[in-house]
Amino acid sequence: MFSLRIWSQSLSFSLHRKTLFPFTVLSNTNVSRFASSSCCAVSFQKKENFSAHNDSPPSFFKDSPLSGVENDLVNYVFGKKKATEVAHLLWKHVVQKGDTVIDATCGNGYDTLAMLKLVADESGLGCVYGLDIQREAVGSTASLLNETVNEAEKGLVKLFNMCHSRMEEVVPINASVRLVAFNLGYLPGSDKTVTTKPETTILALEAAERILIRDGLISMVVYVGHSGGREELETVEAFAHRLSVDNWICCKFQMLNRPLAPVLVFLFKR
Ligand SMILES: C[S@@+](CC[C@H](N)C(=O)[O-])C[C@H]1O[C@@H](n2cnc3c(N)ncnc32)[C@H](O)[C@@H]1O
Repeated sequence: MFSLRIWSQSLSFSLHRKTLFPFTVLSNTNVSRFASSSCCAVSFQKKENFSAHNDSPPSFFKDSPLSGVENDLVNYVFGKKKATEVAHLLWKHVVQKGDTVIDATCGNGYDTLAMLKLVADESGLGCVYGLDIQREAVGSTASLLNETVNEAEKGLVKLFNMCHSRMEEVVPINASVRLVAFNLGYLPGSDKTVTTKPETTILALEAAERILIRDGLISMVVYVGHSGGREELETVEAFAHRLSVDNWICCKFQMLNRPLAPVLVFLFKR
């Protein structure tokens, strides 16, 4: 059974099962940790007062950045949704038609395509910037778009064969960037030694931090099963820990008893 529980300083999800609920908040204040083996939580900084032990969702819940994806998160926890699917579902709640978004690791193009569907409409204002260090990946993304979208939609995508640490060189200075997404690791079906690296991932995150607008999102799927993956997760976490709690809500979703499962990190700018 899934229920909402309210503690005085935080909003929490809890599961009434003997399951560790593996959500950790990376922000540096108001972090709730639940020692009980039957519940663990994601928590947010309090926005308004409300009474403890109130069973109905508090009014601020509707404004929370994870509002609307509660069921998807539960499905992820129980292995019914993949990390990338959860990320796509969350993007739907953040990205609007006409927005500018960045796929920092376009790979085979599935994330680029998902973003394009979110920003494209008849206004023709939306824009997706896709970057990948491998020429082959950019080609693969272009092929997927050729097969699946119309010319007008294709015109909204700009692909670059370059390192994501240089994203500010291609995204116009006045662009209102709503989402920067990273799907780290290596290109599936390709050379597994070409992976994202902590030293360039951190530069890309710093660039994303600079260009993201308020109410925007840095979304990350981090793979820890390959060589260097855990170090990269540590780099991502260290970056998130440094972000001011006044301006960012940072959370991580990780399955504790599936140590190789991809980790989701969401950094909401407010
Ligand atoms: C897991 S794949 C991305 C999957 C992709 N988003 C999709 O939907 O198919 C990771 C990608 O990151 C790319 N990559 C590695 N280092 C990079 C860097 N410094 N800058 C940009 N892309 C990089 C790899 O070439 C690979 O295509």
